[in-house]
Order: sequence, then structure tokens, then C-alpha cells
Amino acid sequence: MERTFLMVKPDGVQRGLVGRIISRFEDKGLKLIAGKLVQITEEQAKRHYAEHEGKPFFESLVRFITSGPVFAMVWQGDDVITLSRMVIGKTQVTEALPGTIRGDFAAHTPFNLIHGSDSLESAEREIANFFEPHEILNYSRSI
Ligand code: CMP
Repeated sequence: MERTFLMVKPDGVQRGLVGRIISRFEDKGLKLIAGKLVQITEEQAKRHYAEHEGKPFFESLVRFITSGPVFAMVWQGDDVITLSRMVIGKTQVTEALPGTIRGDFAAHTPFNLIHGSDSLESAEREIANFFEPHEILNYSRSI
């Protein structure tokens, strides 16, 4: 079963949107298998955004993501990476369609509320950067 790493960014936590964001993925039928509120370190942030190192917005992105707590999660489901990114919406807020989290709640690109892994490889790397294996639960849903 596919897994992905989703993270409500500091702007989402500050704005009190954690619950509403989680609901979007629950409504879609995806399954939450790990979650915690964390204040991430600069080193952890740089590992998370390693692919963006050298880009003009890298330093400000690291400052932003370490500016307050984030809500880190692991979700599971068939095609969960593609489906969760559809729920999230496009990175650029000017392209994020209404009905998506960013389309409905975000007005400035760096402050786009939530991160979602873009590939299986990124998901496994990002999950390992935030969670110990024992923090990820395996349970069945009967209701
Ligand atoms: P995320 O999906 O977490 O992946 C990389 C992040 O970099 C992205 O969301 C934005 O928060 C940020 N980002 C991407 N493009 C830009 C940009 N042009 N200017 C500032 N921040 C950006």
C-alpha cells in the first residue's frame, strides 16, 4: 500500500487550519497512519527541502518552515501520492483551483499551507526525516 508524507506548514498551524486540512484527506477516503506537532530544526528543514538547495527562495523557505510548529503526517492508500496532491492543489497559489486546499485557503505561494510528497522516493525519504518506524501505525478500519 502506498504511503505519503503530508505536513501542515507553520501558516496552517498559526491560522488554526489543521483540523480542516486533515478533514479534506479523511473526506477523500485516505487513511491517517501517523501524525504529530513538531518544531523542526534547521538541519531537518534543509534535509526536507534538499532538492531546492541553491534556488533563490531556499533560505527564506527554511526560515519559514522553522518559524513555528508544523503538523507532520503519514497517510496511506491506493495512489495516495497523486490523490493527496489533487486535494492539496498546485504549488503556485495563482494556479490552485477552488476546491483544493490551496485554492480555498492560500493567497501567497510560499505560504501555501501544506506540503505533500511528489514521488514514492521523496515520500520514503521525507517520512524517514520525521518519523521513527514505531510511530507509524498499522491498523484496519472497519467503520
Ligand atoms: P512545497 O510543496 O512544500 O515545495 C517547495 C516549497 O517551496 C513550496 O511548497 C513553496 O512553499 C515554496 N516555493 C515554491 N516555489 C516558490 C517560489 N517561486 N517562491 C517562494 N517559495 C516557493
